Amino acid sequence: MAGISINTLQTMKEAKNKIAMLTAYDACFAYQQEAAGIDVILIGDSLGMVLQGEKSTLPVSIEDMVYHTQSVSRGTSDNGPLLLADMPFMGCATLEQALDYAKQLMQAGAHMIKLEGGAWLADIVTTLLRNGIPVCAHLGLTPQSVNALGGYKVQAKDKTQADLLISEAEALEAAGAAMVLVECIPSSLGKTLSERLSVPVIGIGAGKECDGQVLVMHDMLGITPGKTAKFVRNFMLDSESIQQAFANYAQAVKSGSFPAKTHTFS
Ligand code: KIV
Repeated sequence: MAGISINTLQTMKEAKNKIAMLTAYDACFAYQQEAAGIDVILIGDSLGMVLQGEKSTLPVSIEDMVYHTQSVSRGTSDNGPLLLADMPFMGCATLEQALDYAKQLMQAGAHMIKLEGGAWLADIVTTLLRNGIPVCAHLGLTPQSVNALGGYKVQAKDKTQADLLISEAEALEAAGAAMVLVECIPSSLGKTLSERLSVPVIGIGAGKECDGQVLVMHDMLGITPGKTAKFVRNFMLDSESIQQAFANYAQAVKSGSFPAKTHTFS
């Protein structure tokens, strides 16, 4: 494996080089993203919404995730981006199921697994790592918990919630998480987390001070129907091709011009 690894991402954080992550779900778009210099491809369970037309990510199955992880893997080279695959809804209901699902995703071509949830996942993170599976912990707005959260809302807006989120992130890092992804939190909290944690912190709606950024590909291409979230920028507006939009996104993340203040929460 000579492509981007967890060691590359760690070195990028330490050198203050921003990490550009995008979702992709098939071989063709994955190929274009590698050619455009995307560092990490997230095979996100957002595919339930953008590919399948579902109202949430909850209906996405492990079979769906394996199929799309295999497709993305076939579209990228051994020198390409790190492939991060989402554990689907309820995948961590038991340790045995988490191990089985993570095994299936790694055998489908993933290099790392993303789990949504807090400190309660610590034992699963440690056990996966012991089995050779690096984990990215997803905190803040966790879309699989949309019903428990009462909607898609900005999280950790007050000090008590922000302190809780920091302590959960630190617990997951201590358990062995190699990366943390935070969604829809105030930009000041994104900054604090990136400073406090040793591992890379990737943000979506979490401000420009995170170690890297992620967007859903369909959102940044401007083809998701309906209202666009505040943290999205349409990179097709000033690009002549899809590959150029991916390259412009990577460049904007790396130069710090994306996200702008208009894309962030306070
Ligand atoms: O599934 C997904 O695409 C995600 C991103 C929103 C971070 O988890």
